[in-house]
Amino acid sequence: MSDETPAHLRHELLPILIVPDAKLRQKCRAVGPTDADVVRELAPRMLATMYKAPGIGLAAPQVGSLLRLCVVDIQKDDVLTPMVLVNPEIVAVSKDLHTREEGCLSLPGQYADVTRPAEVKLRWLDLDGTKREMQADGLLATCLQHELDHLDGVLFVDHISALKRNMLLRKLAKDMKLRQREAM
Ligand code: NI
Repeated sequence: MSDETPAHLRHELLPILIVPDAKLRQKCRAVGPTDADVVRELAPRMLATMYKAPGIGLAAPQVGSLLRLCVVDIQKDDVLTPMVLVNPEIVAVSKDLHTREEGCLSLPGQYADVTRPAEVKLRWLDLDGTKREMQADGLLATCLQHELDHLDGVLFVDHISALKRNMLLRKLAKDMKLRQREAM
């Protein structure tokens, strides 16, 4: 890559798995001390892959790694605030709910309204193994819940009606077939 590539994109990109890849439906295992090297090498590549897509969150199973690891950056006002979340956990949720349109890099081009708690309290470890905690609302709260779901093999379409889900999954399958044909 040329030197003009911004630093946050200067990492080898990872292929993103698309539904119905079986890895997207598995429960990920906790990151342990022996995973430190893997996580250090994976996290910057996941961030670069997310920015490039472009997306605001990416979970390890989406790039084929079944570890409880995700990256998030809602890029508010176009400012980069990359977050690497190791073993993230939602420890409290608000009673207030919020409905927002969601999409997912593993279901390209598909969107649906999803209702989730409006605010969450999150605990995680950062790349240095330091315990972190934050309260999030708005888009960040939605994004965090969406990414954490991935670590349990849950996709945003699992939060909508079966009718809508089936429609959306059929459309995705059709779109992907078209794409494949175009690539030939
Ligand atoms: Ni997703």
